[in-house]
Amino acid sequence: MKFKKKILCIGAGYVGAPSMVMIACKCPDYKVTVVDINHQRIDAWNSDQLPVYEPGLDEIVKKTRGRNLFFSTDIDNQIKENDIIFVCVNTPTKTFGAGAGMAADLQYWEKTARQILENSQSSKIVIEKSTLPIKTALAMERILASAKGGISFDVLSNPEFMAEGTAIDDLENPDRVLIGSRETQSGLAARAQLVDIYARWVSPEKIITSNIWSAELSKLVANAFLAQRVSSINSISALCEKADADISEVARAVGMDSRIGSKFLKAGIGFGGSCFKKDILNLVYLCHFYGLPEVAAYWESVVKINEYQQERFIANILKSMFNTLAGKKICVLGFAFKADTGDTRESPAINITRMLVAEHAEVVISDPKALGNAAIDMAQDEGQISYVEDPYRASAHCHALVIMTDWDLYRRLDYRKIYKSMIKPAFIFDGRNIIDQQKCFEIGFNVFPIGKPALSRL
Ligand code: UDX
Ligand code: UDX
Repeated sequence: MKFKKKILCIGAGYVGAPSMVMIACKCPDYKVTVVDINHQRIDAWNSDQLPVYEPGLDEIVKKTRGRNLFFSTDIDNQIKENDIIFVCVNTPTKTFGAGAGMAADLQYWEKTARQILENSQSSKIVIEKSTLPIKTALAMERILASAKGGISFDVLSNPEFMAEGTAIDDLENPDRVLIGSRETQSGLAARAQLVDIYARWVSPEKIITSNIWSAELSKLVANAFLAQRVSSINSISALCEKADADISEVARAVGMDSRIGSKFLKAGIGFGGSCFKKDILNLVYLCHFYGLPEVAAYWESVVKINEYQQERFIANILKSMFNTLAGKKICVLGFAFKADTGDTRESPAINITRMLVAEHAEVVISDPKALGNAAIDMAQDEGQISYVEDPYRASAHCHALVIMTDWDLYRRLDYRKIYKSMIKPAFIFDGRNIIDQQKCFEIGFNVFPIGKPALSRL
């Protein structure tokens, strides 16, 4: 079959692959290829066991794979064959040298730029989809500008705003698609080509364009604002616990103000995921770089509150359980950083498990989708940790349940049955405020919510 357009994506991760799956689904006349240096990952994308759990993803992959969606490790040849290239490689926080612990590590990004340069035999549009520090496109343009033989490159910024767990819906019905470009003739022509792709399924008023630096910065700022809301409500949850107010009631009252809005006001154990912390630290680094220490300190406090929330939670567990966890069996319910994903990157459950193990507790981790990643995360940690998928078996003979992920499943467990199988007094620390706390208290549990008075007989 002859395809109208050929699109490549470098980086088959949580962001790159689902985004391309959606383009392939909506544009059957385009050939979409996703490449990655990780052979195992590509094999998994070509198998029935996809490397990413995401509701609805399997069905679309089955429909499109082999039709107009292809996964490959042949990066060099694919660069030659495609004229539109999305770059979606990871940009973790730098762990070494200048900016360590804050700045984005751009080594994979630059390596990919050079690989595009070396393998290109015709002009191309290169699209940043990874979240990047402002002005990364400039570095990319400079590297690509050394191309010979009349080949030219247009660099666009098209940050992806989808969230894990709802990726398919977010990709299909985005709040907006943002495309940043140079405002030159060729930059605008490249932008128009990308607009054409999204226009296949996104209404025109939702496809917004901007200059390239605004697009790069908007993604960092969107994530920083979202994380800030979580830290804001979590900071107030600490006050509620002291002052006998109820954070859910406060969030409802505040969120009904249409200027504030009700989303992202769920107090809990703190935000996780691969993006929020990394992107805020990146923003903080940029503010320092541009000589704005006050702005940097403002955003850094969002991360500090997130850490504080976890420290507070573990201190509360320790205090409530008579100041010792040594030898006690604790069931961690949920290890994914949020519901409906198997992803555990930066999950608060990692820190909480470490803190429990440091107190010499015996930890049983349960999760419907993330046990494989949990075992990888905790592999280097010493201490008694076991992994049991079934929540009833995991909680049997435990002293406490610690709810870490807002899986719907945990709302519907038979807590009476669980209570019977546990050591008494039995505790629940509801790090997500998702269970029927009053009912669990009536069953016999001592219940410790976030941002509400405890329901305890002790
Ligand atoms: C990542 C970043 O975390 C995010 O900020 C950015 O917006 C997009 O990239 P994610 O897709 O979740 O998000 O990362 P990850 O699942 O690690 O996928 C990146 C992929 O790029 C990996 O599969 C990795 O093997 C691949 N990669 C990395 C390459 O193909 N080439 C490289 O040189 C480096
Ligand atoms: C986020 C952004 O939402 C998305 O737009 C961007 O493209 C990538 O980063 P993601 O990290 O996948 O997406 O999930 P998100 O739903 O934003 O949740 C992030 C963390 O915040 C999770 O740990 C979640 O549990 C927590 N959270 C979210 C809360 O604790 N309370 C809330 O009210 C909302």
